[in-house]
Amino acid sequence: MIRRKLIAGNWKMNKTAADGVALTKDIAEVIGREGTVDIVLCPPFTALESVGKALEGLSLKLGAQNMSAEKSGAFTGEVSAEMLRALFVTHVILGHSERRTLFGETDALVNKKTLAALANQLKPILCVGESLAEREAGSTLAVVQRHVEQGLQGVTAEQITSVIIAYEPVWAIGTGKVATTAQAQEIHAFIRKLLVEKYGEAAQRVRILYGGSMKPDNAPELLAQPDIDGGLIGGAALQAPSFLDLVKAGSTAKA
Ligand code: PGA
Repeated sequence: MIRRKLIAGNWKMNKTAADGVALTKDIAEVIGREGTVDIVLCPPFTALESVGKALEGLSLKLGAQNMSAEKSGAFTGEVSAEMLRALFVTHVILGHSERRTLFGETDALVNKKTLAALANQLKPILCVGESLAEREAGSTLAVVQRHVEQGLQGVTAEQITSVIIAYEPVWAIGTGKVATTAQAQEIHAFIRKLLVEKYGEAAQRVRILYGGSMKPDNAPELLAQPDIDGGLIGGAALQAPSFLDLVKAGSTAKA
């Protein structure tokens, strides 16, 4: 099954609205109508509106980095799915390891957010992945299985094709230590198997991204793996040249 590659830039807590627009323009100038790869830019909340305007009429999509599971009400500091939709956001990163480790997000909360995103026609980019200690303890598969199964509880076979999974080994995020191609493919294939068991054929249409120090030099090999359908990019998404190189790697990848 040929799955269209997806390259998503996770800007994390970087870029003011003005900086974000400048970066978006530099990217859009080169690939504004790129047709072979799906591209999603995920600025911080404060830059969503301006970046969204800079993307008008282009094929690039807008994503948020987090979202509340609640509809509305007394949740100081939170942002709802409806608010994101009003800014023409189409994707939302959920359960990123920084949210899990620094802000205490549990599988149950990530699941609630995933269901809320889907109920509001937002495509969740559900992040899963083990820490270094978990890998060294031999529990990588168990952790990934728990993140996938609990994160997707209640997600129907109809909804699953709107979900994007991002496998991000925590020890590879922002560290320069990328998982080897074989390590990454092994986990991606494992995730695919879990999805097939639960959803049957529909699972073949789910994109599974790799994240964690993906850079222009290692991307071509990673993206050529049969179950690696794109990348969730942190550091290398902050400058146009490296992000553009990653998009190019996505468009020329064979798998
Ligand atoms: P990195 O971040 O590319 O800087 O390792 C990836 C991520 O955290 O999504």
